[in-house]
Amino acid sequence: SAAEKDGYDWFMRKEIFEQPRAVADALLGRHTASGQLQLDEVRLSDQELRDIDKIIIVGCGTAAYAALVAKYAIEHWCRIPCEVELSHEFRYRDPILTRNTLVVAMSQSGETADTLMALRHARTQGSKVLAICNTNGSTIPRESDAVIYTHAGPEIGVASTKGFLTQLVACYLLGLYLAQVRGTKFGDEITSVVHEIAAMPAHLERVLAGADDIYALARDFVDARTVLFLGRHAGYPVALEGALKLKELAYLHAEGFAAGELKHGPIALIEEGLPVFCVVPPRGRDQLHDKMVSAIQEIRARGAHTIVLAEEDDDEVAPYADRLIRLPKVPTLLQPVVATVPLQLFACELATLLGHDVDQPRNLAKSVTVE
Ligand code: G6P
Repeated sequence: SAAEKDGYDWFMRKEIFEQPRAVADALLGRHTASGQLQLDEVRLSDQELRDIDKIIIVGCGTAAYAALVAKYAIEHWCRIPCEVELSHEFRYRDPILTRNTLVVAMSQSGETADTLMALRHARTQGSKVLAICNTNGSTIPRESDAVIYTHAGPEIGVASTKGFLTQLVACYLLGLYLAQVRGTKFGDEITSVVHEIAAMPAHLERVLAGADDIYALARDFVDARTVLFLGRHAGYPVALEGALKLKELAYLHAEGFAAGELKHGPIALIEEGLPVFCVVPPRGRDQLHDKMVSAIQEIRARGAHTIVLAEEDDDEVAPYADRLIRLPKVPTLLQPVVATVPLQLFACELATLLGHDVDQPRNLAKSVTVE
């Protein structure tokens, strides 16, 4: 009913707008005022955490994209090799697992059969399994050695939104906690990232305040047949997630690419008027930002309609943006939290305009409990 949806037309839209609170809840009680992390639910001893020599994160759909962001963050902060694998591919290739491998099972519902089978396989090989999950007492956390709950609250819309953002927060917390226990980052570095995460709910409020501009964009592209998404570094999984949302909700052909891959094939797809969302990394010491700007120049020269998501004061990229979506200034590894939201709003609105059932897209289930 409308009451359950708080006056929103869809649960999904309600859940998009709940994200500032969900992200705050995911962080709640998990750090001290000085930014020291306390993850009591991670029932692995400090020694067990120090012994980990490889992390493999498994998940499906949106959860697998959260896992990709986690890989960038965990390797950077903890210097532990970290792989990401689709749950259903995992056990069939006979992965190398030891008792010092930590397998992270990422699942909003905690009931996805593919991910459950992957974690069972990991446990038979003696590896430790940590679940990142939104559903208390569900099967995946019950069968895991440890769990970080995401505390997003129930997610009803089939396409994951607040589930995804809180998975990102849980991944950051896991990475920072490992860095703290293993001493790969200094206390003040950890504290400063924790404070950046704590600022996310306020940043998200500002992104959501721009929803009308995104809805206008959806109206302008209601007839699109194909939409592409480009990103790099932590923005690459954002591009994949933006494309997945359009497939799920608008039944549109959409693809996400790592921007560096463009010249190795996908640039052949660019034609006059093709909408291309471009997630621009924050300006920093590396060259990621400038390389992304060149990629945008190249596709625009070939006729693409560039829809650019960039830091709010990024005037280097602005001249090449047919449309500009301004993002709050945040560190590169945290940018997916703010950059994903406009893409969720776009997909939700486009599907609404097309007359689709946003909460129950055709052929999809909220959780897939068969392999
Ligand atoms: C289904 C849903 C997706 C979801 C995936 C993984 O396919 O339609 O939206 O991302 O399962 O779900 P999980 O609950 O394991 O995160």
